[in-house]
Amino acid sequence: MRHLIDILDLTTEQIDGLIGTANDIIAHPDRYADKCHGKKLATLFYEPSTRTRLSFEAAMYELGGQVLGFSEAQSSSASKGESVADTARIISCYADIIAMRHFKEGAPLVASLHASVPVINAGDGGHNHPTQTLTDLLTIQKEKRRLNELVIGFCGDLKFGRTVHSLLNAMSRYDKVRFVLISPDELRIPEYLRHEMQTKGVCFRETQNLEESLPELDILYMTRVQRERFFNEADYIRLRDSYILTPEKLRSARADLSILHPLPRVNEISVQVDADPRACYFRQALYGKYIRMALILWLLDIQ
Ligand code: CP
Repeated sequence: MRHLIDILDLTTEQIDGLIGTANDIIAHPDRYADKCHGKKLATLFYEPSTRTRLSFEAAMYELGGQVLGFSEAQSSSASKGESVADTARIISCYADIIAMRHFKEGAPLVASLHASVPVINAGDGGHNHPTQTLTDLLTIQKEKRRLNELVIGFCGDLKFGRTVHSLLNAMSRYDKVRFVLISPDELRIPEYLRHEMQTKGVCFRETQNLEESLPELDILYMTRVQRERFFNEADYIRLRDSYILTPEKLRSARADLSILHPLPRVNEISVQVDADPRACYFRQALYGKYIRMALILWLLDIQ
């Protein structure tokens, strides 16, 4: 049985296959309308979500399947102390596939060890968010027509940003990809990830300067400073507006820059940027539904 807990669970060939299926769904949605007839997806969300949960649900409905689940821990028996392991066993009796978001790193992995149906990590604490990464990869492929020979800038909260960690891992496997990691000192990538990248010989540099970095980038991946991950409100307030992308700053960027953001955004991209054709983040959210459709089919082994 297949699960998706970490983006590195997938080979680059499997990722290419999912992107291919997503593109086919975009081109021929009618061919997929009944593929999941009689199947149920359980969305177990212990943390808030708009895009991930609702795009999973839309994906299952558009495949002809059905959806059940909860959108906050308080409305489930987790509030009475039920473990993730027991929850996974129980939900396996009711659904054919599980998408789980949890505030604790590793919770979806624990679920996968106890479930008898496929489990998808829909974001675990500050750790990983592999289906956002699949979304990002489909977006990059559609915008750039390639996943190699790219200079990618990540900007903002690179410490707690699970989408950053997953995408760095995924893109590190493609040829001639270079990373510019732009963050305040306190929000640099975690030491374990820096060590892994150095060990694998990944090409990257770290800086605090967005303006200076912009002209060399093919892709700018902006991120939100995540209030919910801070222990100290004063630190959050001091760091939250470290970077704000504006039309003025973008004057020095390439004409074919692609601006991505996993969303939600707070202040880090000015709304004036939304009209810039280089802003891809709303298209990116739409691609998230199609790649999740492809993923559900693959995990359920439906052709
Ligand atoms: N990108 C993302 O994970 O958004 P949500 O938190 O709204 O699901």
